[in-house]
Amino acid sequence: MSEVRAASHRRGIVGESVLTQAFARADNGTLSCEGVPLSTIARAVETPTYVYSASAVREQYARLSSALSGVPFRIHYSLKANSNRALLTLLKSLGAAADVVSGGELYRAQLAGFPSSDIIFGGVGKTEQEIDAGLAADVLLLNVESEDEVRIVDRLARSRGMIARIALRVNPEITVETPHSYIRTGEKGHKFGIPYDEVRDVARLTASLPNVVLQGLDMHVGSQLSRLDAYHHGIGRVVELLSQLRADGASDLRYLDIGGGLAVTYDAEEPTDLERFAEIVVPAVRATGLQLIVEPGRFMVGNAAVLISRVLYRKRSGGKELLVVDAGMTDLLRPSHYNAYHRIEAVEAVEGRSRVDVVGPVCESGDFLALDRELEDLRAGDLIAVHSAGAYGYAMSSNYNTRGRPAEVLVDGDRFAIVTQRESYEHLVRPEVLEPEWRVD
Ligand code: LLP
Repeated sequence: MSEVRAASHRRGIVGESVLTQAFARADNGTLSCEGVPLSTIARAVETPTYVYSASAVREQYARLSSALSGVPFRIHYSLKANSNRALLTLLKSLGAAADVVSGGELYRAQLAGFPSSDIIFGGVGKTEQEIDAGLAADVLLLNVESEDEVRIVDRLARSRGMIARIALRVNPEITVETPHSYIRTGEKGHKFGIPYDEVRDVARLTASLPNVVLQGLDMHVGSQLSRLDAYHHGIGRVVELLSQLRADGASDLRYLDIGGGLAVTYDAEEPTDLERFAEIVVPAVRATGLQLIVEPGRFMVGNAAVLISRVLYRKRSGGKELLVVDAGMTDLLRPSHYNAYHRIEAVEAVEGRSRVDVVGPVCESGDFLALDRELEDLRAGDLIAVHSAGAYGYAMSSNYNTRGRPAEVLVDGDRFAIVTQRESYEHLVRPEVLEPEWRVD
């Protein structure tokens, strides 16, 4: 990105709505989350810490709901983006349902109080135990991704004496544009979903099995979709399949699940045009007579958080200036893993600007938050805010280098609360067995 665009971004010209309202400078020049200065949170909770804005989440939920109002819809928030319990409780209070992809996420969704009838359970590699947990919970739908899995669901449902409601995840095999290839899922050859040409056979198999009923078709073509066209093409392909399945006699279909993927603003991207999204999705789904399911993750929480971190050292290497900060790839993996851009700015107003690499404390050369970035002239002790960190931030954090994962704080108006404690060293070593009980075969 050019620094000219970066400058306009800082003035708040781009991404006006959520980005600039939830995280703005107070009159004294301090960056705040809603009514709370980030420096206050850093003092009280230390760093690195994720700070979430409740109103930014509320706003996104309201925007998406109103965009989809032309068709019966269900918003199943995708827990993988961020499964913090306080955020789940907030989303549930707004009316969201849940989309889970593991036994662990199912457990979290249940702990947060989502009723089973509001949970869909997807995932490319569910174990038998996980499928059985989904059946035991009687989730709304199991999204199934292969013929083998359909058979297993049928067998497990039979032993529970129940009929499992399933959706088939279709790989529409379309061209998808995303900022990184790792977050595309709907192209030919991807591991996700059932290859387009095989879906009809799997649907026939489903019809022949006594303990499964096909209630939905599902797709998810990618994440942070650069072009809304992907929905147009994907839905077109799924709808085509739907008529074939109906012609084959499928009569229990109730849901059309178009997955997640709505983009948020990291840099100077245009914010997602929800009106256009609705123009693509609503009429197409309405024509099918099915209920629309969406599985947004990033869209709900991505722009709703910053990661605050403190500068530990400023140093030089090979003619470059480096800021060593106390957050790294263990806290926010996206820059290192996807070469992702996250806007960074000083929490307190600082004079002057310089070009720096912002690197973490982890013993890896790939441990950085930003490379060759023009920032305020920061020194040891200064605070930075790494923007758009709400989705796939904490959720992808790790304990590498025996680093405890950061704290999480929720802000609502002029109040803030710790919603996840910083992980302690004791917590990190707790699962280890100090005196192993050796076994022989
Ligand atoms: N549904 C399914 C089946 C998915 O695989 C995903 C994301 C979602 C919904 C939610 O997608 P979203 O609305 O958040 O785009 N770690 C990567 C993103 C991986 C997305 C995986 N699947 C990142 O940091 O960009």
